[in-house]
Amino acid sequence: MNSSNQLTVLTNCHLATMRGGSADFGVVENAAIVRDNANIIWVGCAKKLPQQYQNLPQTDLDQRWVLPAFVDCHTHLVYAGNRIAEFEQRLNGVSYEQIAKDGGGIVSTVKATRSASEAELIAQSLPRLQQMQSFGTGTIEIKSGYGLNVEDEIKMLRAARELGNIEGVRVSTSFLGAHALPPEFAGQSDAYIDMVVEEMLPEIAVLGLADAVDVFCENIAFSLEQTRQVFEKAILLGLPIRLHGEQLSNSHGCQMAAEMGALSCDHLEYLDEDGAKAMANSGTVAVLLPGAFYFLRETKKPPVDLLRGHGVAMAIATDCNPGSSPTTSLPLMLSMAVTFFGLTPDEALAGITRNAATALGLGERIGQIAPGFAADLVAWDIKSPAELCYGFGACPLNERV
Ligand code: NIG
Ligand code: FE
Repeated sequence: MNSSNQLTVLTNCHLATMRGGSADFGVVENAAIVRDNANIIWVGCAKKLPQQYQNLPQTDLDQRWVLPAFVDCHTHLVYAGNRIAEFEQRLNGVSYEQIAKDGGGIVSTVKATRSASEAELIAQSLPRLQQMQSFGTGTIEIKSGYGLNVEDEIKMLRAARELGNIEGVRVSTSFLGAHALPPEFAGQSDAYIDMVVEEMLPEIAVLGLADAVDVFCENIAFSLEQTRQVFEKAILLGLPIRLHGEQLSNSHGCQMAAEMGALSCDHLEYLDEDGAKAMANSGTVAVLLPGAFYFLRETKKPPVDLLRGHGVAMAIATDCNPGSSPTTSLPLMLSMAVTFFGLTPDEALAGITRNAATALGLGERIGQIAPGFAADLVAWDIKSPAELCYGFGACPLNERV
């Protein structure tokens, strides 16, 4: 990126602007973009570049395709350790739920994360963040949820913010204190939720460490009523809400979250029509996580036809985490979204740009190429935007421009 606020022109490129409403990626061929240090100033056909921009410094992009930098709107990027041994157990037939019930799962990562210092947590998470950027991602949402006490949740959120500073990428944080029941609260989930509501949330809000509040509403996590309590407090503190909902069963959490104005509901394999309708009514984004679907060998697909039919915006994310989706690649998620879930390439790409931005409450700022949007741009060595959904397991050459 430029060091001064000098205007420059990107030229000899094609654009997938991802402007809302188009079914064709918002293509502009033989385009030019005028940008400054932070923002897009002008976009259009190179031939129509206004006179006042014609003598600015130009970067020739050699016919590459420019897209908005990808937005990974659901990750658990900050954690310590790994869950390779549990993966091997699952390969031998033990279920994700059973591992959690036996005291493993999320709680194993909680133990490792609590033992790590903030510096160790940053050091272990940094390579994942760097990999994400190599796949064209420019904004990353990062959740807490492996600390599960005031001190360690704060440590995770600080590490997330610091990772953004180190790499110069946009990080949006979500407080996920209600992710799992920590072992010291075994059998006392209401008491734990009281602590989340009365201690953790207020302190984290005062410190400005959370951009949103997330809850895992599920029979292996927290009930509808407990989820409501956390959301009510978040709303009181002025924080947007999001949900891990209907991943392993239908708890009707998405309907409630949507009625409470949630930015997004995520996973959604078991979502029903009432849930989809409520999400449509409130403009709540459906975040689909094909990496977790794949890695947990789920067979029930999220109800894409229902979401599409009711006009719910769909986003796609990695869910990067050690237990259910150890991946950093949004291009791989594009492939899975079209192949497993039946999204069109245009829907899938909107899902990691425009709609993912909306899921973070940043839909007016990132995820599209248009004047006034952030100049978070990536040039791709591809023949057409759909190529990003076509190859899998490798990633076309790309460069931040
Ligand atoms: O999004 N569903 C709950 N949380 C994560 C999994 C976290 C873990 O297993 O460590 C998810 O899939
Ligand atoms: Fe998740």
